[in-house]
Amino acid sequence: MPEVDLRSAARASNRFFGAAVQIEQLRNDSLFRRTVINQCDSLTPELALKWEVIEPAQGAFNFAPMDELADFARDNGKRLYGHTLLWYRSIPAWARTPINTPRGWDMIHRGFAETMPRYNDIVDYWDVVNEPLDSTQDDGLRRSPFYEAFGPDYIRHALNSARHLAPQGKLLINDYGVEYSGPDEHARRKALLALIDKLRQQRVPLDGVGIQSHLDLHRGPIDQQSLATFLKELADRGLLILITELDVREVDITMPLALRDQKVAEGARAFLDVALAQPAVRGVTTWGLSDRYSWINVDADTGRVHTGRNRGLPFDVDMKPKPFCYSAVEAFRNGSPAPPRSNHKS
Ligand code: G3I
Repeated sequence: MPEVDLRSAARASNRFFGAAVQIEQLRNDSLFRRTVINQCDSLTPELALKWEVIEPAQGAFNFAPMDELADFARDNGKRLYGHTLLWYRSIPAWARTPINTPRGWDMIHRGFAETMPRYNDIVDYWDVVNEPLDSTQDDGLRRSPFYEAFGPDYIRHALNSARHLAPQGKLLINDYGVEYSGPDEHARRKALLALIDKLRQQRVPLDGVGIQSHLDLHRGPIDQQSLATFLKELADRGLLILITELDVREVDITMPLALRDQKVAEGARAFLDVALAQPAVRGVTTWGLSDRYSWINVDADTGRVHTGRNRGLPFDVDMKPKPFCYSAVEAFRNGSPAPPRSNHKS
């Protein structure tokens, strides 16, 4: 296979390409490290920035993994993507009860205040609120511990706090489940737009939206028309769009490898063709770079890792580029470029 260069392909369309990583992978695996350095302009901490990691005991902050990742980024000319400040699935055990008291917000604010200024030099985008949507609720909002404690206004509070602490940062809401047809995904797109409109009415500082994009071939093709319309609706509201967690869950892992890889590449391509036709999309991050390290290969129940079982990332377990890489390069080439980077302030 010819040399592949996702970084240059993205740059040529005024975008970045990035991947979610864990610092141990970069520290201990030189082949992986080299591939990340060659292919990525942006790195997302898969775990290191989550509240349960940075504050495992109240007031006892643990920035070691995040600091190491930030130094790696600074040393290698990379940027970090700030995932994530507020996620209902990463609340440290000690905070679960006290969050629901009048002083609860102080705890959240303290975490933000310790974290954001520490990395403002290297983080451009912050996933301030992760996964706030639940289309089964009347108001479209997940009944998370944050919602239960502070009501729907927790999103406004979080974005206002974040703006204060990162005046130059791009502040985002990041969510999933907007790529396919069907009533649930339709309702999720609607709920996200309604949330955005409400926040804008309240003059809340929101710069953009992260679309996670965990694709799943079991679900058939994505709904290209609805996705394109949705991205345009976001762009028309002046928002930036980031593809934040792209990967592809396979439908049949017993098929010949070449066919599997082709199907994954086609799935990714169908998505990227729509995403990269939209100039408001400023970057694409895959959730891992290689099948060597992919959350899809971890059994949620047992924690057992089946390395390479699913082949849903651009590089295989041997760090060889797969058709996914080439279809991403093509999609960057064929898409509509984003505005030149000097204009990315808007
Ligand atoms: O490192 C420990 C290991 O020592 C221990 O033996 C094992 C026991 O289960 O756990 C390991 O830690 C796990 C960690 O992943 C490392 O792989 C945690 O339990 C597990 O909770 C953690 O899962 C991460 C999950 O977010 C929760 O933080 C996944 O790696 C990560 O890929 C996933 O990422 C999320 C995004 O943040 C938000 N969108 C969805 C996406 C996928 O679920």
